[in-house]
Amino acid sequence: MIKKDLLTITKQREIASNIMEVICSGSLAKQMTEPGQFLHLRVDNSDDLLLRRPISICDVDIENETVTMLYRAEGKGTKRLSLKEEGEKIDVLGPLGNGFPLDATKQGETALLVGGGIGVPPLYYLSKQLKKRGVHVIHVLGFQSKENVFYEGEFQELGETYVVTADGTYGSIGYVTDVIKEKNLAFDTMYSCGPTPMLAALSSIYSDKRLFISLEERMGCGIGACFACVCHVVGDTSGTSYRKVCTDGPVFPVGEVVL
Ligand code: FAD
Ligand code: FES
Repeated sequence: MIKKDLLTITKQREIASNIMEVICSGSLAKQMTEPGQFLHLRVDNSDDLLLRRPISICDVDIENETVTMLYRAEGKGTKRLSLKEEGEKIDVLGPLGNGFPLDATKQGETALLVGGGIGVPPLYYLSKQLKKRGVHVIHVLGFQSKENVFYEGEFQELGETYVVTADGTYGSIGYVTDVIKEKNLAFDTMYSCGPTPMLAALSSIYSDKRLFISLEERMGCGIGACFACVCHVVGDTSGTSYRKVCTDGPVFPVGEVVL
């Protein structure tokens, strides 16, 4: 059954250039136990914002029934969301999709969490859950520039954290793949979320590893009904095999879908 609720904004602030952190409360938060799942937000009831916006779950406080989301206020819907104030409500569907498999990494093993830009948020809840299970976590976080960097301290509290910027204005210069090679980071499982070129690069370099990637495809309904989010299955020559990112994903094992 699809879960729907009105969440109440308890706090909203800008944490980096155009990047907002919003904390919402509501009993739906109790069901948000799987990192990598997303919420589908109806920002308001105006006619020009009929489509919901998918935003990942970044953190959950089950006891206090709160959920944290981080988002880039860029387009019409997210900009409108950023103007909402404490006490206002958001209509939410979710938690939706299949998240990151926690069981893929055993206690005592090492998980390398690799995020790019606005793909970083779901890795925070994932890292907290893995750490709780006795997994050693390492984070590599890639951003465009210094002004876009967020949650470095939060990730550092959980484990070793490397920040890289494309223009070298903060951390090391280059891409996440450069850091993994330069620091010679060893891992048992890699979990990643970020722009498609980054996921494609990781998938090609680490195709023989235990790697799970989360896609941020454009979505419509978010519940498997509209086919807006389909992607093709690797090796399908008939062009008829596909996966829906909203219900089969957004997390897939490496090599399952065409990037
Ligand atoms: P508009 O241009 O007004 O959007 C128009 C339409 O296109 C909307 O229906 C919108 O949902 C869709 N759309 C536009 N860009 C994207 C995109 N990149 N991905 C999906 N749909 C898009 N962004 C964050 O900032 N933080 C997150 O935690 C986050 N998690 C996501 C998790 C999933 C599973 C997916 C699929 C996307 C996620 N995104 C996240 C991307 C986010 O959904 C889009 O940036 C956002 O919907 C754009 O809306 P807008 O109003 O700013 O832009
Ligand atoms: Fe409608 Fe996936 S968004 S089927």
